[in-house]
Amino acid sequence: MEVKVSLFGFGNVGRAVARVLLEKKKFIRERHGLEFKVVSVTDRSGTLWMPEGIDLREALMIKESFGKLSARTNEYETYDMGPKEAIRDVEADIAVDITNDRSAHEWHLAALREGKAVVTSNKPPLAFHYSKLIGKARKRNLPYLFEATVMAGTPIITLLREGLLGDSIERIEAVLNATTTFILGEMEGGGSLEEALERAQKLGIAERDPRGDILGIDAGYKATILHCITFGPKTFDEARVKGIAGITSRGIQRARKRGRTIRLVATVERGSIIVEPQEVPLDGPLAVKSHENAAIIETDLLGGLIIRGAGAGLKETASGVVSDIVKASFVIQGR
Ligand SMILES: NC(=O)c1ccc[n+]([C@@H]2O[C@H](COP(=O)([O-])OP(=O)(O)OC[C@H]3O[C@@H](n4cnc5c(N)ncnc54)[C@H](OP(=O)(O)O)[C@@H]3O)[C@@H](O)[C@H]2O)c1
Repeated sequence: MEVKVSLFGFGNVGRAVARVLLEKKKFIRERHGLEFKVVSVTDRSGTLWMPEGIDLREALMIKESFGKLSARTNEYETYDMGPKEAIRDVEADIAVDITNDRSAHEWHLAALREGKAVVTSNKPPLAFHYSKLIGKARKRNLPYLFEATVMAGTPIITLLREGLLGDSIERIEAVLNATTTFILGEMEGGGSLEEALERAQKLGIAERDPRGDILGIDAGYKATILHCITFGPKTFDEARVKGIAGITSRGIQRARKRGRTIRLVATVERGSIIVEPQEVPLDGPLAVKSHENAAIIETDLLGGLIIRGAGAGLKETASGVVSDIVKASFVIQGR
């Protein structure tokens, strides 16, 4: 079955998604019987739009050579259209949001109104507007999927939304932000937070403006999303969030002498979302390293369940996005 896809955002993750769609075209056809046709790609400069399908190799080349899609080439016309116009004008089955547009919920809702499925890796729309978005998707009977918003491709969202359906989940404790894990890991060696942050920025692990990670906001968005799918709607404003700014390497050394280390831990229970640095046992599941995330899910029937895996990275995030595109296609196919 052919599925028409509009991509929004052609940054690091967007291009990784495009590469996976290109490189795994044959796999996706043989394994899933699906043929994805990317009909538009939008960045902040405009929209590449070809109803007959865009050559993603060419689109990647344009973006990587010129930094923007609106660069003129012989073959491709770029249209002066932002996401709202592209949602309205481009005929597609699935709108894939891989932007960092904080107002994207507006065009997610528009996409659902237009009868398009939505797949997203963008956290703020869910952390602030979960009820409205899920409500609209249910009303229109359309998939609204967001696996990559929490733990990248490690499928905690699918686990919580589609598994454990007879269990009452009591709490989730999780390390959800890889940048703070990297920084705290570096500080275990004795350096200061500033030095560790500088190293993280040099390696491209931390963003130029690292406040979202250091202050716990990114982890707070993710914890809010986990609360929404597990215990019901809440918004990020209701989360209690404290970042790692006050952590010193001396504090970490002291914890290590007791067989513990410090990680930024999210604790999610019914009605409560808390993100704060906590001591965790060095040999326990939350003492993750590098770009790993981990979550302990406690339920009445199963007891403790641990899910651990990549929580950041480009192909790792693309894994979650592409999985959702396939899943959305199955739903569309079934209708
Ligand atoms: N990187 C990760 O490991 C990771 C993991 C999980 C989730 N995510 C999420 O995935 C999303 C993308 O991350 P990224 O690392 O790829 O970010 P990025 O490299 O900064 O790319 C963001 C892309 O979004 C585009 N964009 C932003 N606002 C737009 C708008 N209003 N209209 C059209 N395009 C717009 C940008 O356009 P320009 O290119 O023109 O600037 C850029 O192409 C973010 O929401 C991020 O939080 C990332």
